[in-house]
Amino acid sequence: MPETRNFKHLLVTGGCGFIGSNFVRSVLEWRPGVRITNLDALTYSGNLENLADIEGHERYTFIKGDITDGGLVQTLLADCDAVVNFAAESHVDRSIQDASPFITSNVLGTQVLLQACRNTWGDDGKAGRFLQVGTDEVYGSLPIDKPEELFTESTPLDPSSPYSASKAAADMLAMAFHRTFGMDVLVTRCSNNYGPYQFPEKVIPLFVTNLMQGEQVPLYGDGKNVRDWLHVVDHCEAILSVLEGGRPGEVYNIGGNNERSNLDLTHAILDIMGKGKEMIRPVADRLGHDRRYAIDASKMKAELGWQPTRSAWPKGLADTIGWYQDNTEWWQRVRSGAYRDYYEKMYGAASS
Ligand code: NAD
Ligand code: DAU
Repeated sequence: MPETRNFKHLLVTGGCGFIGSNFVRSVLEWRPGVRITNLDALTYSGNLENLADIEGHERYTFIKGDITDGGLVQTLLADCDAVVNFAAESHVDRSIQDASPFITSNVLGTQVLLQACRNTWGDDGKAGRFLQVGTDEVYGSLPIDKPEELFTESTPLDPSSPYSASKAAADMLAMAFHRTFGMDVLVTRCSNNYGPYQFPEKVIPLFVTNLMQGEQVPLYGDGKNVRDWLHVVDHCEAILSVLEGGRPGEVYNIGGNNERSNLDLTHAILDIMGKGKEMIRPVADRLGHDRRYAIDASKMKAELGWQPTRSAWPKGLADTIGWYQDNTEWWQRVRSGAYRDYYEKMYGAASS
């Protein structure tokens, strides 16, 4: 088993987004000695309301700022011993409309963070650790007629969208800082997450909230594309176990072993919500739409003893739908843009 590290003060970037907010909340609960500083630019998907329940927590500090601001990052790092980088543009369809913010935040932002870590911690590889939160989309696409094929950590990178290309660049920069300077850097690559606080542009919260408003759900292409669904809190637990127990310079694939076609997913949502198939609206396919993602997460189990415990299907999905049903104010404010009023008053205008 690799050595276990105990960190005192994490710099979490992008902690006001979907996965980052679940991570901040979970780590404050799971690790009573750990402090967290959350650096988030509050872009369209960053929402202070995602962490309203821990505002004022004695071990939590929020800083509004951009990861491309090297001076700010370095100031914050002076007191931190690890970075977990969630901050990114995260939606494939937006990257097809305009790739530029993806290059700025995902590529330049990661390089600025890495350089600030090096400036602060030097090259001895022991002072601080950098964990890059990556995605399985960097591997490209698998065929749907060969279920035995899975993404492993040594699958060549072959990204399809501007989003996944920018994430692949970020992963490679992270690894380059390890190989060139000996920095303590690790990369995780996870499959599709679902759970509370996901921005309703992603398929599950989009479909669920459409149906709650009596609207149809737009299913791309033939609906046969396959994704491997993992509950967000399982992902957070996996990231923490890599942060504390992973080996420097290693990549760790994280997945739910839970492949579903979009058509099966849509039918499951309709069933749970008591809606009929007439609520499906077939629409044109996404450009460059990856056919199938599927993760081999055996390294996580073998090295770190991690496996998902919250992703059982369809219970995890039903619980998630229940969360959106119980939190209509949250998503109605997000969908109407009203959630931005609060932080615009507090912190000035956010980027669009
Ligand atoms: P999200 O869009 O919900 O959240 C992104 C957060 O980053 C927001 O709070 C946003 O304000 C912040 N941010 C964006 N650019 C920033 C910048 N330049 N400086 C500071 N903050 C900035 O995304 P998510 O779904 O929570 O994804 C988080 C990370 O996990 C991303 O890196 C994504 O690539 C990765 N990931 C996501 C999934 C998934 O299924 N959602 C799966 C695997 C990996
Ligand atoms: O695999 C990890 C990735 O999962 C993360 O890196 C990304 O940040 C995250 O957004 C997600 O990417 P996807 O593109 O797989 O997620 P999305 O929710 O956008 O789409 C899931 C599937 O549903 C995909 O095959 C496209 C389809 N879809 C999506 C939308 C938004 C539809 O059929 N209709 C839709 O309206």
